[in-house]
Amino acid sequence: MLPLRLLSVKIPSPWPAFSELVSIGPVRTFVVVSHTVPLEGEFSLSDLPGGAGRLDVLCRAATDAFLVSHGIRKDVALHVVVRDQLLISLWGPRLRHLNPDERSTGALLREALRAACDLPPGEERGSTPGITVRWLDLAGLLGELGAAGVSPVLLDEGGEPLRTARLSERPGFILSDHQDFAPAEASLLADLPRVSVGPTVLQGHQCVTLVHNELDLREARAVWEVLTAAIGEPQAQLVAGFLSGEGIPVRFRSQVPPSVYPVTVDGLAEVQILVPAPDLLRAREALVAFEAGGGADGEGSAAP
Ligand SMILES: C[S@@+](CC[C@H](N)C(=O)[O-])C[C@H]1O[C@@H](n2cnc3c(N)ncnc32)[C@H](O)[C@@H]1O
Repeated sequence: MLPLRLLSVKIPSPWPAFSELVSIGPVRTFVVVSHTVPLEGEFSLSDLPGGAGRLDVLCRAATDAFLVSHGIRKDVALHVVVRDQLLISLWGPRLRHLNPDERSTGALLREALRAACDLPPGEERGSTPGITVRWLDLAGLLGELGAAGVSPVLLDEGGEPLRTARLSERPGFILSDHQDFAPAEASLLADLPRVSVGPTVLQGHQCVTLVHNELDLREARAVWEVLTAAIGEPQAQLVAGFLSGEGIPVRFRSQVPPSVYPVTVDGLAEVQILVPAPDLLRAREALVAFEAGGGADGEGSAAP
């Protein structure tokens, strides 16, 4: 268990930089390219397939990307590129209020669209917990994901079978909505590796579920060891950021459903920090350095 004194160090702001969130947080990234959702966010939640321009497709992608039985996947980021102009990002580590029904998910996405209306170019804004918006096109997103260590992979029924494909530690799966990729998008994506979840053309959210299933099976076969436990997610993110900087992959494990904290210390839930078994010794050494204040900016020594 990490000492409580670490609670006194600087806690990340609610909306850390994109690259920070991508690189220290989610290990599974999905990008959905949306062509028909209206940017203004002025539509009725009773008409998601019509007036909302097939927002129902995005809602299903979001619920399948994050929700499991009675919980949320924390290691996922979902980026929706709307009309090649607006980026809506959903961040598993911070996401709240995502429920299985399409209507309430539609409300979260509509809130994001509305939050972008008066947003100046280059700025990022949080709309609801765990959801951010900013003006960015697909090319810009691909560049930023690459810079943050995410390897883009195109989901394509004609691609290499997912079951046997080699994937990076941080794959980013790209799929279209109910339409084909536009010609400019297709040429942007032309050189990416392609993986197929099977010979049948499926709906996008079904592909998301199948990708999760394959990655779940791969993870179950891999051995991850508990390195330590942190008190609350902000503290766990601090440690994860340090370890990631040392090139050590990190996973969190907690029994914490999205907004319920059953096991708490000082009101915060315990989060176990896991690393791949082969990295355990190196991670222990890194943790000692972190606790001694050897972090990049010395934050770990901020306690009295
Ligand atoms: C509903 S499909 C797109 C439908 C198709 N473009 C059309 O208009 O007929 C949405 C996305 O799911 C992904 N997809 C569908 N079936 C797939 C499969 N068998 N393997 C991998 N990806 C698939 C592709 O990325 C596709 O862009």
